[in-house]
Amino acid sequence: MKIFNLSIECYPVAKVGGLADVVGALPKYLNKIDGIEASVVMPWYNKPFVQEHSFEIVFDGWIHQHNDSFQVIVMKERSNVLGFDLYLVKIPGLLDRDNPYGYWDESQQFLAFQHGVLHWLTAMKIRPDVLHCHDYHTGLVPFMVENCPEFNFLKGVKTIGTIHNGEYQGIMKWEMLDYFPWFDGSKVGLLDWNGFLNPLATMIKCCHAFNAVSGGYMDELFENFRGLESLLRNEHSKAYGIINGIDTDVWNPKTDSFLDYNYDKKDAIPGKQKNKNALCKEYELNPDLPLFSFIGRFAGEKGADFLPAIVQKAIQETEGLLNFVVLGSGDKNIENQLLDLSKTFSNFALDLGYKEYLSHKIYASSDFLIMPSRVEPCGLNQMYAMRYGTIPIVHYIGGLRDTVEDLSTGGSGINFSEASAEETVHAIHRAMIIYNNKELMNDLVNSNMNYDFSWEHSAQRYLELYRK
Ligand code: ADP
Ligand code: GLC
Repeated sequence: MKIFNLSIECYPVAKVGGLADVVGALPKYLNKIDGIEASVVMPWYNKPFVQEHSFEIVFDGWIHQHNDSFQVIVMKERSNVLGFDLYLVKIPGLLDRDNPYGYWDESQQFLAFQHGVLHWLTAMKIRPDVLHCHDYHTGLVPFMVENCPEFNFLKGVKTIGTIHNGEYQGIMKWEMLDYFPWFDGSKVGLLDWNGFLNPLATMIKCCHAFNAVSGGYMDELFENFRGLESLLRNEHSKAYGIINGIDTDVWNPKTDSFLDYNYDKKDAIPGKQKNKNALCKEYELNPDLPLFSFIGRFAGEKGADFLPAIVQKAIQETEGLLNFVVLGSGDKNIENQLLDLSKTFSNFALDLGYKEYLSHKIYASSDFLIMPSRVEPCGLNQMYAMRYGTIPIVHYIGGLRDTVEDLSTGGSGINFSEASAEETVHAIHRAMIIYNNKELMNDLVNSNMNYDFSWEHSAQRYLELYRK
């Protein structure tokens, strides 16, 4: 069975968040199963991975968008270094940039990507069994395959849509229709939701099946899906929830080359302490105090706006008996507030920016990782934390409730029921009690490392869906 994953991000080529981690791991694990051939197709970016690896050109053609023609070059990575075939689609003038997001003509870029991929497959007579589309950026593919005469060769190919984040739907103005490949005009209603062109809604209408990245999040979408609730109810028979896994080759404290000290279950307590000592030294923190951390985008979904109040209250209420490390960037207002706090409190370290290596060090060094997310479709941080023997403190929502059970019922972390600074700090007080009970704390570190979140299970669930 031939599966093409279409995505805007893929680790380690280009990563902004968890979408990249998922797309960089799922096909690798699928390929371990007999008879499965999974690959990734993504835009070309001006990134180190692309410069450092060798690619062969497998297609060179043209697409027409509006009044322009664009060259489409598809290249394939030669050595299969990622454990799957990796195809990059380069469209000079549109898909030849530094980053996945943040350009004024983003909608046109995503349209060109989808158009370019289908044009290539059609021209080269490549007919996969499944086109697996990730998020709204590739959400128009199921529509295009069925309704654009140009891609008649692909008609009937099965399409699956994965919703990594329903907050982003890719809504566009109707003028963008000019940038679509020519399609059967009687089908225009499939592109409409509440008067707008909505690629995520179109994906849900047109694909053969779709899933959210956890069962918990899929349940929540029925209640709150930014206006798509009734659509979801209409299409519920195609809806699935499949929890993400983690790539245990990349995320392994025993072999992780980003860590100062490697460790495994046998020497986790001293191993984590050595990493913590090194990190605390770097940030001038006291390594004898519990270390709480946050890693992520400074966005409302992540509850990052609570961070300034959380840090301040937690440090003041414990009279400075804890350390905080925050790694992330995003909303400038949050960045500035945190910067001010980092100058006020010596036990708060802030690193603004995106630093893959540092995230690994923080997962390994921390005692607790906080996730006060308002919305969390799956969340990978809590699973990475557990794999590194760190205790997650999470708002009980979406994928977090599917992966972190509270300690009081024998689980791996601390849950709180409302996304707020107060509730998070209350949970931090519970964590302090646990930290001061060394025996309990050490047991938790060890037992958290035993959880198996590997992709093997979830890849099987995707396989069942593909087979269906
Ligand atoms: P989302 O995709 O919504 O941002 P996830 O929990 O699914 O959330 O995944 C976030 C991923 O991005 C994790 O791999 C996390 O370690 C990583 N990450 C987030 N912010 C940063 C950062 N500032 N530096 C390094 N890695 C980060
Ligand atoms: C999105 C979600 C996150 C999820 C990730 C990977 O970015 O916000 O919760 O883990 O996709 O599926």
